[in-house]
Amino acid sequence: MCGIVGYLGPSQAFPVLLNELKCLEYRGYDSAGVAVIEEGRLCVLKAAGKLSNLEALLESKRPKASVGIGHTRWATHGIPNDQNAHPHTDKSGTVAVVHNGIIENHEELRDELKSLGYEFASETDTEVIVHLVSHEYAKDQDLLQSILRAVKRLSGIFALGIVSQKHPDRIYAVNHHYSLSVGLGDNENFLASDSMAVRQYTNRVIKLDQSELAEITTTGVRLFTFDGKEVKRSPIALDTSPYVIDKCGYKHFLLKEIHEQPLVLRQTLSKYLRHPNHPIDLNIDHLSTGSGETAYGVHLTEEEIKGLDRISVFACGTAYHASMVGKLLLEELVGIPCEVEIASEIRGRKVLVNESTLAIAVSQSGETADTLAALKEAKSKGAYTLGITNRADSHLAHLTQNLMVTECGIEVSVAATKTYLAQLASFYLLAIYLAEKRGTISKERAKELKVQLNLVPTMIEQILAREEQIRDVSVKYAEAHDVVFIGRGLNFPTALEGALKLKELSYIHASGYAAGELKHGPIAVLDQNVPVITVLVPGAVYEKTLSNAQEARARKAKMICVAVDGDEQATKTFDAVLAIPPVDELFSPMTSVVPLQLLSYFIADYLGKDVDQPRNLAKSVTVE
Ligand code: AGP
Repeated sequence: MCGIVGYLGPSQAFPVLLNELKCLEYRGYDSAGVAVIEEGRLCVLKAAGKLSNLEALLESKRPKASVGIGHTRWATHGIPNDQNAHPHTDKSGTVAVVHNGIIENHEELRDELKSLGYEFASETDTEVIVHLVSHEYAKDQDLLQSILRAVKRLSGIFALGIVSQKHPDRIYAVNHHYSLSVGLGDNENFLASDSMAVRQYTNRVIKLDQSELAEITTTGVRLFTFDGKEVKRSPIALDTSPYVIDKCGYKHFLLKEIHEQPLVLRQTLSKYLRHPNHPIDLNIDHLSTGSGETAYGVHLTEEEIKGLDRISVFACGTAYHASMVGKLLLEELVGIPCEVEIASEIRGRKVLVNESTLAIAVSQSGETADTLAALKEAKSKGAYTLGITNRADSHLAHLTQNLMVTECGIEVSVAATKTYLAQLASFYLLAIYLAEKRGTISKERAKELKVQLNLVPTMIEQILAREEQIRDVSVKYAEAHDVVFIGRGLNFPTALEGALKLKELSYIHASGYAAGELKHGPIAVLDQNVPVITVLVPGAVYEKTLSNAQEARARKAKMICVAVDGDEQATKTFDAVLAIPPVDELFSPMTSVVPLQLLSYFIADYLGKDVDQPRNLAKSVTVE
């Protein structure tokens, strides 16, 4: 959430800043701005709304500057408008600050600064930082020391970029429990919240550690702790394989990413699963392609695996839904008690993990603040740690001892689809792997599971081939104001994920419920205007789920279901059936979600919504 960029060197700063910001727009698109030093004077340009608004402004002004910082905002304090957009400046207009994070004691600092005569132009927490820096600067005109003194007054977690027209040869970057990378070029240097944004210019990067400040000039980077002690760190090399960011003929990235799912699954599966006759091999550090700092693969010894007595999973949003499926798989196949926590919900609570716990953090971005905090807490208590992420260079990847990287490529659309499937695949692989090591499944069962798993990509292809039928059904429900999704067991998370996708993409209010819970309250909202979407696949809970759907039908709800081909009960009970190929119940979460992703997409597109960048969202949620 919020992206910070910076540039200084011989080139024009604004096109570079703009290019970097384009790579970070996924972190927020409420407003954007830059501060550059043009002919010795600080020049700030900002615009509410998407980055394209700032781009138009920059194109018309074309500031001539070779140093600057930029920001793309996801609003926390203050509505998205020009005033609240970053950068923020001090009253003399000489210092500018961009900020990612939350300053928890901003109100107290604001009052203090106001009593000292500082006037505030925005409602943001960020503005206290620039006034604090300026206040400290007035004491000794030492910008580095002023920033260090100011930073010590701040509570919360944050990343900052700071420029001053009095020191036009440098940018300061501050990282306090966030991510910031300095890209090293030839007589030019770059700053970005995500190293992906500097990759287009250089593959040599220094990542700021926690509670660190960087003084960046064209010729070098000096790192300091918040106590002012200089530290040395060598740059790391970024993976240089090209990212393909192209819609490839699809109308939206989201639709393309839904269609990429069979390929993504095959890539994730083939990395760890060579042949159904062979045990799954998660110990694959030999495949490492990253910075060399990350422990790819699962390296727990057989003894350590056998000694595990608990698994705790931490995640948010879609990753949480994947983890809910993971819990059921791990308990079913490995027989170890497993709990899944919404990462933000364990703040301020005891985390009951110990040296016999495997703590798993699941995050597409690997930067979700709450997930990282939960992971750190578990790690500090001695639990084994495993990360499941799509970003091998993320914060999460560097924090965990064991790492499974999903093979999705960049997911551009803010709503997660292909990464959900890949997270599910990771849980299937992990559950089978641990079960084989602990001997909780027979060789035959393990082989059967692997065969089934390998069939899933083809089933998804078959569902995607029915896209037109799914569209025809979906748009009939586009005018609904409320939609209820129900499922049981392994497909309760599917119902939750279906509801989340519909909300995110179409802004229609949708809720997911465990089907058996419907009659305990939610059924009160049902009438002929509320579509109920049931996930109904053959297996242990089929009959009970069908009964719950009947209860909804008796309240005149419009009835839609996801069911397997040839399910006559489904055809009789429901107004519309989104059919999927027959599937073993255990693997059904991977296929049953696909028609729901498409349904949400088609409804959102029909309603003319911004499918790839839905309002109010950010792809990487780096505030708590
Ligand atoms: C998914 O569509 C979401 N936009 C969101 O719920 C996301 O899954 C959540 O913010 C967690 O992100 P992460 O996987 O990067 O940690």
